[in-house]
Amino acid sequence: MAKTAIIIGASRGLGLGLAKALSSRGWQVTATSRGEAPDLAAAIAASGGSITPATVDIDSDDSIAALDGALGSARFDLVFVNAGVMGPAHGSVAQVTPAEMGALLHTNAVAPIRVANRLRGRIADGGTLAFMSSILGSVGGNTGGGYDLYRASKAALNTLTRGFVATVLKDKPISVLTLHPGWVRTAMGGPTASLSVEESVAGLVEVIEANTAPGHLYLDYSGASIPW
Ligand SMILES: NC(=O)c1ccc[n+]([C@@H]2O[C@H](COP(=O)([O-])OP(=O)(O)OC[C@H]3O[C@@H](n4cnc5c(N)ncnc54)[C@H](OP(=O)(O)O)[C@@H]3O)[C@@H](O)[C@H]2O)c1
Repeated sequence: MAKTAIIIGASRGLGLGLAKALSSRGWQVTATSRGEAPDLAAAIAASGGSITPATVDIDSDDSIAALDGALGSARFDLVFVNAGVMGPAHGSVAQVTPAEMGALLHTNAVAPIRVANRLRGRIADGGTLAFMSSILGSVGGNTGGGYDLYRASKAALNTLTRGFVATVLKDKPISVLTLHPGWVRTAMGGPTASLSVEESVAGLVEVIEANTAPGHLYLDYSGASIPW
């Protein structure tokens, strides 16, 4: 039977690339967007039924509940929470407003855990819960600074994930993966980034398929460990 995945935030960029890569490897994929998603619609049309759409805005608890309701009895071998934002372009601690910082922390750190908490009962034993973090979320690896607000949001995601794994997920036999996709040419990564979406997601899918043992790992797209 085909393996099943849900990718949260698959309208474009890495999430869309993941949906396509998994589908081309024989997975049955549910791909979410929160609004108009023409690139995802084209991928669904070309997928021969192996990618199906769903809707969620992770910032809204009502929207998360509606997604859960719409999924019926679906269970997944992989729940991948990919959605994320960069935050204010200035990236400056001195300039950021409480509202901007609150929104960034909510979308990148709090909302992913709320989605995971809502969907955790749908993850098959032996399956995987993945979060799209970043190497910039590594506290131990932060020797150069830069992108400080975004770094803080991904460090917060990593911290909240560790707490979620240690408490809510502690008896659940699944693999939890905190992943760094590399620096990738998307709207967020920009045109000068070092990797194409296809290169990054090919690595991420291999990492997911190779790391199914229960536990929690922080890995990049090549499978290398990242310090917390
Ligand atoms: N590109 C890189 O170099 C890089 C490096 C490290 C980590 N990452 C991480 O990888 C993930 C994907 O980034 P990307 O480069 O593919 O960026 P992207 O092209 O900007 O895509 C971001 C995705 O997140 C979705 N999203 C944002 N806020 C959402 C919300 N509230 N609810 C639902 N979906 C939401 C977007 O949906 P809409 O189309 O509706 O906006 C879009 O599908 C992010 O978590 C990012 O932090 C990227």
